[in-house]
Amino acid sequence: MNDGLDPFDSASLIVAHDEGNAFDAVVPPIVQTSLFTFKDYDEMVACYRGERVRPIYTRGLNPTVRMFEEMLAKLEGAEDAIGFASGMSAISSTVLSFAEPGDRIVAVQHVYPDAFRLFGTHLKRMRIEVTYVDGRDEEAVRRALPGARLFYMESPTSWVMHTHDVAALAALARAQGIVTVIDNSWASPVFQQPVALGVDLVIHSASKYLSGHSDVVAGVVAGSAELIGRIRSEAYPYLGGKLSPFDAWLLIRGLRTLPIRMKAHERSALAIARRLAEHPAVETVSHPGLGNHLPPGLSGTSGLFSFIFREGFNVRRFADHLQLFKLGVSWGGHESLIVPGEVVLAQKAQPNSAVAFGISPRSVRLHVGLEGTEALWSDLEAAIAAAS
Ligand SMILES: Cc1ncc(COP(=O)(O)O)c(C=O)c1O
Repeated sequence: MNDGLDPFDSASLIVAHDEGNAFDAVVPPIVQTSLFTFKDYDEMVACYRGERVRPIYTRGLNPTVRMFEEMLAKLEGAEDAIGFASGMSAISSTVLSFAEPGDRIVAVQHVYPDAFRLFGTHLKRMRIEVTYVDGRDEEAVRRALPGARLFYMESPTSWVMHTHDVAALAALARAQGIVTVIDNSWASPVFQQPVALGVDLVIHSASKYLSGHSDVVAGVVAGSAELIGRIRSEAYPYLGGKLSPFDAWLLIRGLRTLPIRMKAHERSALAIARRLAEHPAVETVSHPGLGNHLPPGLSGTSGLFSFIFREGFNVRRFADHLQLFKLGVSWGGHESLIVPGEVVLAQKAQPNSAVAFGISPRSVRLHVGLEGTEALWSDLEAAIAAAS
């Protein structure tokens, strides 16, 4: 989005208008079909030979899904994008398009727990090794990279919200011909555009801010036409994690309000994070916007952060006293949510990244939704008082 406009204006313009919708409808119709027919033999054989590109079967190409992919590519400043049935499907298909048995992947610590599980189970069985580094330590990243096939980033990371100098790390990997991947779900393209920072592939759990209404599970990857083409031809058709036309349609709707929602999440979450940081019951708050300036490449902050209560605090009583904040996984929707660290540490599914990387049992992850900030703060204050 190098158009001289404020990033919010640019993003709003990209998602507000579609040209050429059927019937001049302002909202595009859903092309809810599994297959597409051909008018004659010649047309069918031309499509099969690859001489003509048009939808044949929705697992391969669907106009509603394509519309979402094109919108997202524009928002990320990428040449192309490809939608998936979930963020995990986007992550697994991307990694499996590039890594082969015997390869090594370098990943930053505190990646999303199911990505960590994928790396520690399926990739391990395929003899793909994953080395974890602290992405805040550029020297450690530089030392870990030689010989790696992929560099997998998340900034801010899950749970502890570590931020990295994405451009600097991407440059280190690029200098060695290593493909770089980032999970950009937290910042969304409104606050961070990793392609402009030199990252090759940008992944989203579209279940989060892109959808924004907690009614979709989906994923997407954006990048160069060449790399997205590779994912589209190598992993996507056969792993089969396609995005459904209806979910793509809901995502198009979600994108319309993405810039304005991100601004609202940012304002409210920052206000709450600042008050928590001053509360006597709270030891520390991990929110990338609390320092004097934002990390390089990040132009704003979203609604997800975590904090740690002081020793002796009763997290269970706090959680059960909340009225507006609900106990629930995921984030990025209109509603405010909490996840206690104790619960994550007790998770049955293995390997457990919270144990491996070490998160505090006194920590709590908050997602600040779109409800009124004062009402949310009163809810937190009352629950803290009840548990102190
Ligand atoms: C940072 C991050 N990346 C990826 C995912 C996985 O996305 P999905 O649940 O859409 O598969 C999540 C889900 O919580 C996430 O938090």
